[in-house]
Amino acid sequence: MAEIADVVVAGGGVIGTAIAWRAAAAGLDVVLVDPDEGDAASLVAAGMLAPASEALFGEGALLRLNLLAVRRFGSFAAELEEAAGQQVGLRREGTLAVAYDPSDHAALIRLTAFRRSAGLAAEELDSRACRRLEPFLAPDVHGGVLFADDWSVDNRRYAAVLREAARAAKVRYIRDRVLEVRLSHGRARGVQLAGGGDVGAAHVVVAAGCWSGAVGGLPDALRTVVRPVKGQLLRLRHPAGVPHVIGHTIRAIVRGTDVYLVPRADGELIVGATQEERGPDQTVTAGAVHDLLHDAMSVLPVTSELILAETCAGLRPGTPDNGPVVGRCGPAGLLLATGHYRNGILMAVALLAGQFAAPEWEPFTPQRFTGLDGSR
Ligand code: GLY
Repeated sequence: MAEIADVVVAGGGVIGTAIAWRAAAAGLDVVLVDPDEGDAASLVAAGMLAPASEALFGEGALLRLNLLAVRRFGSFAAELEEAAGQQVGLRREGTLAVAYDPSDHAALIRLTAFRRSAGLAAEELDSRACRRLEPFLAPDVHGGVLFADDWSVDNRRYAAVLREAARAAKVRYIRDRVLEVRLSHGRARGVQLAGGGDVGAAHVVVAAGCWSGAVGGLPDALRTVVRPVKGQLLRLRHPAGVPHVIGHTIRAIVRGTDVYLVPRADGELIVGATQEERGPDQTVTAGAVHDLLHDAMSVLPVTSELILAETCAGLRPGTPDNGPVVGRCGPAGLLLATGHYRNGILMAVALLAGQFAAPEWEPFTPQRFTGLDGSR
């Protein structure tokens, strides 16, 4: 069965759906192809919009891109909620980063100095001041830093609302997998589907997360650029009638290991996440559940009273420099939008509404891996 569209998007996570929505809202005829309707990394995420508390040494360009995204997020969320008639669960309380012991504290202070040097707001707090903000923190938490400008969003609501907005804008969904990009005379002409059909389109966007490299027709150098980085996380719930135990996102360093706890307005509390190089494995392991709960309970003992509602594992699309791979590549009409690694929920927004042309994107073109001229 052949379909015809202006744009075909491979991948229905938040990145692919956001692109499809905006293209359709701009008047283009858009087909989105995904075997599981975006049942990928977007749904196994904590939804942190946290450029400050996630900034790491050596990732200055990525930080600038993340800041661009968070600056745009408020108005984007409002527009999306208006288009879909549903809330995305945006929270603006900030992140309280805490340290479990003196050496964790020294590491947090080193990171804080780097983040401040990048212009980020960070307020150092002693143990008592941390507990004034979050009374359920363990008394032996050594100290912390408030990153007041970090936000979070309910990633599952956000993904669902994006899908709703895309449907309302008349994006057509095909439940299948893109096998390869159809090329002729040096330009993309559409895609071939695994189920045997095809979609003809002058513009093809590959936004298939860690599976993007498996799509045929991409320049060879891009086929191995994105790899799966496994993350396991837990979804906890407050028992009925129990008040919410935290208001801020809490990030903790516990004996050298990172753990985060992200609250939701509906009483959910996300605990995450592992970072594992295990290829496409998506099993949930007893050890990861143990370690996440152990570290969470070390800083927030009351975690043990919450209901363990779900354990899950997802695959982040990681790249050699931890940055996304976004832009034109190889044949005319072919765009890549992947490699968002730990920041996909945040970055979907920075792709949109002309932000794509912002200078913050320049370090993240596919050309840094292919050496090809992207304008061809
Ligand atoms: N950004 C959080 C994570 O990737 O675990």
